[in-house]
Amino acid sequence: MATTPQQLNASTESLPLQDRVAIVTGSSRGIGRQLALHLSSLGAKLVINYSSSNSSPADSLAADINAGSLPPRAIVVRADISDQAQVQSLFDSAERAFDSPVHILVNTAGVLDSTYPSVANTTIESFDHVFAVNAREYWYYWASLQKRGGGGRIILFSSSQVAALRPGFAAYTAAKAAVEAMTKILAKELKGTGITANCVAPGPIATELFFGGRTEEQVKKIIDESPLGRLGETKDVAPLVGFLASDAGEWVNGQIIRINGGYV
Ligand SMILES: NC(=O)c1ccc[n+]([C@@H]2O[C@H](COP(=O)([O-])OP(=O)(O)OC[C@H]3O[C@@H](n4cnc5c(N)ncnc54)[C@H](OP(=O)(O)O)[C@@H]3O)[C@@H](O)[C@H]2O)c1
Repeated sequence: MATTPQQLNASTESLPLQDRVAIVTGSSRGIGRQLALHLSSLGAKLVINYSSSNSSPADSLAADINAGSLPPRAIVVRADISDQAQVQSLFDSAERAFDSPVHILVNTAGVLDSTYPSVANTTIESFDHVFAVNAREYWYYWASLQKRGGGGRIILFSSSQVAALRPGFAAYTAAKAAVEAMTKILAKELKGTGITANCVAPGPIATELFFGGRTEEQVKKIIDESPLGRLGETKDVAPLVGFLASDAGEWVNGQIIRINGGYV
């Protein structure tokens, strides 16, 4: 039997994130892309973000989400999240496009030095870049969201490396450890706003970031060490983020959630 418009309305109205505006940074590829698709399936309006000169992956994701939907439910904003002015314009573009404050911020954009330098071999340039993208930008986001009030969700990304502490990841792990510390303090400082702040810390997930600079042998070793005998996939992370973003996730606040199939 065909679905009537009333039935369609009834089903879309009950979606947990119906029409809430969500920014997912670093969502042209990898984990962020899957999160954008998942939040969209839960009813959110999406801001897809990336920073490089290649707009194709982000544009094609937006086209997928917007297929058959008018007005559009996803926009694409190119912005380097380590740059304050570009972060501000990311929020401004979101509010202008959807005529609504941002309700959900998921910060997946992140970088790793794929030469995996030891502490002694980490250059200042590499250290500064890794910190600028993975850790420094959060301050701007928080300031922007706090002004708005009225509830909301901040979901930041760390890494299970903070628990594993493997050689070759020092600056990256230190930057993610900073994010974890700030998340816990942020959740307390947001008292009274109704906004929660949590940190998701995956283990190995099959994305460009993970495969960069690794040999097949190294990848195989990680799979062998994993209790579930495989790498994580981006879809393994999405349901957790969907829950944290929802009203039902409210009581999880100020937490670091490691999601790695038991690898760490
Ligand atoms: N994959 C893993 O095994 C793993 C494990 C633990 C934690 N994580 C964390 O999970 C998050 C997502 O990782 P991923 O594996 O999905 O990475 P990815 O596949 O390399 O994707 C990174 C995304 O971030 C964007 N990006 C990079 N620098 C940016 C910047 N300065 N401003 C805005 N966007 C930027 C990239 O687009 P452009 O290149 O166009 O800018 C891309 O969309 C990261 O925070 C990472 O540290 C990943």
